Amino acid sequence: MARIALVTGGIGGLGTAICIRLAQDGCTVIANCHPSEAAAATEWQAARAAEGLTITTIAADVSSFDDSTRMVNDIIAQHGTLDILVNCAGITRDKTFRKMEAAQWNAVIDVNLNSVFNVTRPAWEGMLERGFGRIINISSVNGQRGQFGQANYSAAKAGMHGFTMALAQEGAAKGVTVNTVSPGYTDTAMTLAMDDAVRASIISGIPMRRMAQPAEIAAAIAFLASDDSAYITGANLPVNGGLFMH
Ligand code: CAA
Repeated sequence: MARIALVTGGIGGLGTAICIRLAQDGCTVIANCHPSEAAAATEWQAARAAEGLTITTIAADVSSFDDSTRMVNDIIAQHGTLDILVNCAGITRDKTFRKMEAAQWNAVIDVNLNSVFNVTRPAWEGMLERGFGRIINISSVNGQRGQFGQANYSAAKAGMHGFTMALAQEGAAKGVTVNTVSPGYTDTAMTLAMDDAVRASIISGIPMRRMAQPAEIAAAIAFLASDDSAYITGANLPVNGGLFMH
């Protein structure tokens, strides 16, 4: 039986690569998008179909517990199970802290961190009952080392891994693993939004002297989603071209 996988932020730069890879690996993949992205989701789904992949989309605001619960319950009602959850939805609101407003702090904590509670909570009990689950939280190198201009983002991303380590202990004896992947700078719209000079300076500091391709991050997620990773839980897997080692 194909595993059922939900990828939040599934039509974004990284989310798209993750959906494609999991579908190529034989999973039944559902890509979450924000309700405001309905038109883009239709185009996205058609693009995947043109690549020979059947991936459905589901709209829900993952910063809302009620909407996230509805989404997860809909998926379980339709597919009977949810085996793999990739918490990938994320935004940036980069500002030096002296300029950061409460709205910019709250938006990033809501979308990047509270979403992880909102979506995982309704998925969790079914995974425990069925004795199988894979939760993969997409954090960031900047959650591990901090980043100038990203107090909000770094806090949310570091928080994700604290969540991973706590929940990994609750799932370990029940066949449910919980892991973090911490990508470095990746070639997506999120990094393209940075000032060119700032981006060039960051790339020059990466030992591999280049950004990641989204598929290189997706490969790590596919491994943690697979049956081969059964004995790995509570881990934080860096995929960062050597930018941060510890
Ligand atoms: N370290 C130290 N000082 C720095 C600095 C750094 N990395 N970057 C800027 N500064 C200094 C400048 O030299 C300048 O100094 P002076 O005031 O003495 O001249 C000062 O900070 C500029 O301060 P401002 O408040 O005016 O900042 P700004 O508006 O020019 O820029 C910023 C702020 C937009 C946040 C910019 O610093 C920036 O883009 N930083 C990078 C943020 C980043 O890496 N984002 C990642 C996005 S991708 C992502 O998040 C995915 C992922 O997981 C990796």
